[in-house]
Amino acid sequence: MSCVDAAAFRAAMARFPGAVTIVTARDGAERRGITATAVCSVSAEPPSLLVCLNRRTGTCAAVQTGGRFAVNLLAGDGGALALAFAGATGASGEAKFASGDWGADAFGLPLLADAAVGFSCEVAEVIEAGSHCVFIGHILAIRQGSGPALVYEQSRFHRLAPLA
Ligand SMILES: Cc1cc2nc3c(=O)[nH]c(=O)nc-3n(C[C@H](O)[C@H](O)[C@H](O)COP(=O)(O)O)c2cc1C
Repeated sequence: MSCVDAAAFRAAMARFPGAVTIVTARDGAERRGITATAVCSVSAEPPSLLVCLNRRTGTCAAVQTGGRFAVNLLAGDGGALALAFAGATGASGEAKFASGDWGADAFGLPLLADAAVGFSCEVAEVIEAGSHCVFIGHILAIRQGSGPALVYEQSRFHRLAPLA
């Protein structure tokens, strides 16, 4: 049993810089997507990564049902898109995709044309952890883009700049 409350946890985790992604999935004919920083490399053999999605989101439900998801790493100018897919503009479900230049991979998963990199994944394992589901995905395809990633830290978006 933890004696740390949720507010203290959030304040501490806000210090972790996170690469900003939009995780997408399909729910039949409709697309689903949310902004997510809880994305992490898992293994190179087989190539796999994990995402942590709140169980209340439509994207989590669509990943559970469809068994596939895509991860779109946003480029440095993607702050407005990140806000839209975090629900800040009031758009939800398919309506979120009015923002951004979206195409699809071979499986119909939404891929952003100008992402820094895009991954198409198949769910290999699901772990229920508190409010979230952890999906470990085997990577089926990678689409390389260019440019530095968008980063979120202390509730603000940042562009990366090299020290020298
Ligand atoms: C920078 C940032 C990072 C986020 N990271 C995650 C995450 O890793 N997992 C998650 O479930 N929600 C995350 N969220 C919250 C979701 O984006 C938000 O709850 C979701 O988009 C709500 O979508 P809905 O209104 O369509 O349900 C993050 C939000 C922001 C702004």
